[in-house]
Amino acid sequence: MMGRGQWRMLKNWTLLHRRQTIIVLTLAFFIWTVTVVNFSTSMSQYGVRESEKLRKDVINLSEKYVKALARENEGIVDGPYAGRFTAYDLKKTIAVLLESILERLNRVEDQLFNQTMMNRNITRSTEASGIQAQDLLEGKNEQCELTKKDKQLYPQCTGKIEWMKQMWKSDPCYSNYGVDGSLCSFIMYLSEVEGWCPRSAWHGTSTVPKDDPTILLMANITTNIEPLMQMLVDPNERESYAWIRMRIRRIWDRWTKAVNSLAAKQDLSGRRQKKILVHLGLLSQQSGWKFAENQFKGGPLGELVQWSDLITTLYILGHKLTITSEVDQLKNILSKLPAANSPCQSRKELPVHIIYTDIVGLRQFKKFVKEGYGKFSCLLRIVDTFGTEPAFNHQQFAKKRKKSSSWGGQNLQPQQFFNMFPHSPDNSFMGFVVEQHLNDSLVNEIPRENQALVYGKNEYMWQAKTQYLDIINKSLEVHATVYMDERSDKETNTASTIIPSYVINHGFLNGEDLHTLLRQSKVFVGLGFPYEGPAPLEAIANGAVFLNPKFNPPHNRNNNAFFKGKPTEREVTSQHPYAEQFIGEPYVYTIDIGNEEQVRSTVQKILDLDTFQAYMPYEFTEEGMIQRMNSYIEHQNFCQFQRQPSKWPPEKAITLLFGEPNKSCKDVCWEKNFICEPSHFLRTNSMEALKQHGAPCSTEKVALDIFYPALDTRTNDCILQQDELLFSCVGKQENLRRLCPCRNYIKGQIALCQGCER
Ligand SMILES: *[C@@H]1O[C@H](CO)[C@@H](O)[C@H](O)[C@H]1NC(C)=O
Ligand SMILES: *[C@@H]1O[C@H](CO)[C@@H](O)[C@H](O)[C@H]1NC(C)=O
Ligand SMILES: *[C@@H]1O[C@H](CO)[C@@H](O)[C@H](O)[C@H]1NC(C)=O
Ligand SMILES: *[C@@H]1O[C@H](CO)[C@@H](O)[C@H](O)[C@H]1NC(C)=O
Ligand SMILES: *[C@@H]1O[C@H](CO)[C@@H](O)[C@H](O)[C@H]1NC(C)=O
Ligand SMILES: *[C@@H]1O[C@H](CO)[C@@H](O)[C@H](O)[C@H]1NC(C)=O
Ligand SMILES: *[C@@H]1O[C@H](CO)[C@@H](O)[C@H](O)[C@H]1NC(C)=O
Repeated sequence: MMGRGQWRMLKNWTLLHRRQTIIVLTLAFFIWTVTVVNFSTSMSQYGVRESEKLRKDVINLSEKYVKALARENEGIVDGPYAGRFTAYDLKKTIAVLLESILERLNRVEDQLFNQTMMNRNITRSTEASGIQAQDLLEGKNEQCELTKKDKQLYPQCTGKIEWMKQMWKSDPCYSNYGVDGSLCSFIMYLSEVEGWCPRSAWHGTSTVPKDDPTILLMANITTNIEPLMQMLVDPNERESYAWIRMRIRRIWDRWTKAVNSLAAKQDLSGRRQKKILVHLGLLSQQSGWKFAENQFKGGPLGELVQWSDLITTLYILGHKLTITSEVDQLKNILSKLPAANSPCQSRKELPVHIIYTDIVGLRQFKKFVKEGYGKFSCLLRIVDTFGTEPAFNHQQFAKKRKKSSSWGGQNLQPQQFFNMFPHSPDNSFMGFVVEQHLNDSLVNEIPRENQALVYGKNEYMWQAKTQYLDIINKSLEVHATVYMDERSDKETNTASTIIPSYVINHGFLNGEDLHTLLRQSKVFVGLGFPYEGPAPLEAIANGAVFLNPKFNPPHNRNNNAFFKGKPTEREVTSQHPYAEQFIGEPYVYTIDIGNEEQVRSTVQKILDLDTFQAYMPYEFTEEGMIQRMNSYIEHQNFCQFQRQPSKWPPEKAITLLFGEPNKSCKDVCWEKNFICEPSHFLRTNSMEALKQHGAPCSTEKVALDIFYPALDTRTNDCILQQDELLFSCVGKQENLRRLCPCRNYIKGQIALCQGCER
C-alpha cells in the first residue's frame, strides 16, 4: 500500500540500515505468519467482511513495526538511495513486505471465495506508488516526469533541475533534505522545499502541508500603544525613531478608531499572527543618509511617514514585530539563525514570515546572510518610493540593455516592491496615511476666503513662475509657507528676489495651522516641484482645489535630473500623477501652466464653483491603509509554488484584454477602467490564450523582453514570455499587440479588486 499518504509519512521517518531491513523483514514475516494462519481459519467462519478487516490489520501491524524500527534508527543514512526524500531502502522493505503479504492474501482469498474483484483495488493501490517491489529490488529508479503542462506551469523547474545536477553536492544541506543525485530526489526537493517544480511529477500530494493548528497564534487587534513605543527605542541612543514615535503618538487615536471601524465592516478574526522583521536601512548610520540626524531639520520625511504608518499598521493588526535600524542589531538576530547562511531553501525553520526593508537595508541584509539569501528573498517586501520596473529589476536583462541602476537588479518579483503611490502596477501599492489635523467641529467654523496657497516650501521651487502667479494674483490673494533661513527672516520676505512681492508668506507652519490655511483657501497652486508629495492630498482633503502643472513632454529618467538613474521608465505626466489620474476634476485641474489663457480660464472655473468639497481617497486614510496591508499580508505569497497561476486576486476579478499595437498593458487595462494585474500574466502566456482572444497566430516563438506575450502585427508571430520576471505592465512596442491581465478595482482602494477586501 505504497499510496501517496504513506509516502509522506515515510519521508518523515528516517531510514533503515540494511541490517535493520533484514530485521524488519523477519519481524514482518512473523506477524504475517501469525495473522494469516489466524486469518485462514477465521475466514471460513466469518466471511468476507471479516477478511477485509483482517487484511487491514495485517497491513496496519506491519506498518507499525516498520515505523517503530525506523524511529529507533533515526539519522542512519545508508546506500545510494538513502536520502530522506527517496527513502529507498525503507520503500523497498515495505514494498517487498506488503507485496508478498498481499500476494499470499490474494491467493488465500481466491481459493476460498474467488474475490478477484475485491482485490483489484488493492493491487491497483500498490501500483499507485509507480513501481513494483521486483523493480525496486533490481535497482530501478522511480520515474519522475515532467509533462508539457508541468513545464508550462513551472517554467523554471527544468532549469533548477539542471542546476541541482551540477550543484547538489556543493552544500551538505541538500543531502540532509534527502537529495541523493537521482532525478526524482531533485524534483522532490524542488517541489517540496523550494516550490519550483510540480508535485505531480513524482505523485506527491498536491495539498500543501498545514501547520499544526495547536501551535498557531492568532493575530488580535492591538490598541495599546505602549509596547510599540518600547519597541521604538534606539539602543544606540541616536534617537533615530524620535520622529516616527511622535507621528505614531499624534495619530494614535485615529488609528484605533480606524481599526475598530474596519473590524465592524469586515471580519478581522481568524488571522494567523505573522512574525515580521522590519529593518529600516535608511536610518542606519551606515546608509550615510543622515536621516536620523536630519529628521527635525527639514530633512526629507516622506520615507519616514511611510515607515511610521507601516509599523503602526502591522502592530495594530496584531502581528509580532521585530524592528531594527542598525546593522549590528540585524547581525545579532541573523547570527542566531543556523539556517541563515545555508543555501538550502527550506523556510520551515525560519523564525520570520515577512521582512520589510528598503534597498539600503536589503544590501546590508544580503551581506550578512550570504548563501542563505535565497530562502529569505521571497519573504522580502521592499519599501521603494519610486518604484522598480521589471526591466530594471531583472539583473541580466538590465545589464544587457544598459539599464543597470544602483537601485535595481535585485531579481525579486516586481510585486515585492512597495510604492508610496500607485506607479506601475508591476509593483505593489503600499501608500501612507494623509494626516488630518483638524477635527470636524473645527472645520465648519473656518470660512473659505478668496485666497490661493502656493505649494512650494523652498525658494528655488518658485524660479521662473512669476508669470503664472501673476495671473492667479489677478483674482486671488496669494499666500505661501516658504521656509526662510534666519537671515532673510529678519529682513522680511521682501529680501527674496524670486518670490513676487504680493505674496503673503507665513513661513514654516505646523500641521494644524497649515490645514487651517488650506481650509481658508480656494486653490492650492502647484509649481511643478516637488513631485508626488502628500501636500496636494492634504489640500484636497481640506477642500482646496489643486492646480496640477502638466508636463509636456512628460518627465522621465532620460530628460530629467531628478529621475535619472531611478529604476523606472515612468513617464511623469504632471506634478502629481495620482491626483491627475485617480482624483481629477473638480478637485484637481491638470493644466499647462505656461498657457496663460488656460490658467486664467481654469482659475475662473474654480471661482465659479459654489461649494468647495473636501475629498479624501479611502486608500490614504488609516482605515484604508489597514485594509489594504491586511489583504497583502493575508494573500500575497512570493514563496511556495510561486510559479503556479495566482489565486489572489481571484480569477473572477480578472479580464484578459487584447490590446492595440504600441500600448502597454497598464494603458490597455486603464482605458477599460481596469488595472493591469501582473500576478495573472501566466494565464496569458500561451498560444491558446492568445488565439482565444483573437490573435491570428501563425507561428509560436519565445523571447525574452518586457513586451511579451504579444502578437507581432507584421509577421503574425505569437511571441511568448521566456522569463516570468520580465512580465511587465509597462512594456510596449509599435508593432506589438499585448495580451493583458486586467483586474477590476475598488474606487478609492485601487490595490484591491471588488469583493476582495478580506
Ligand atoms: C489501520 O490504521 C488506520 C490509521 O493508521 C486506521 O484508520 C484503520 O482503522 C486501521 N485499520 C484497522 C483494521 O485497524
Ligand atoms: C476466480 O474466478 C475467475 C473468473 O471470475 C476465474 O478466472 C479464476 O480462475 C477463479 N480462481 C480460482 C482460484 O478459482
Ligand atoms: C475500488 O475502489 C473504488 C474507488 O476507490 C470503488 O468505487 C470501488 O467500489 C472499489 N471496488 C471494489 C471491488 O471494491
Ligand atoms: C489572541 O486572542 C486569543 C483569544 O483570546 C488567544 O488565544 C491568542 O493567544 C491571542 N493571540 C496572541 C498573539 O496573543
Ligand atoms: C477639536 O479641536 C479643538 C481645538 O484643537 C478642541 O478644543 C476640541 O475639543 C476638539 N473637538 C473634538 C470633538 O475633538
Ligand atoms: C497683485 O494683486 C494685487 C491686488 O489685486 C495688485 O495690487 C497687484 O498689482 C498685483 N500684482 C501684480 C504683479 O500683478
Ligand atoms: C507609439 O507610441 C509613442 C508614444 O506612446 C508615439 O510617440 C509613437 O508615435 C507611436 N507609434 C506609432 C506607430 O503609433
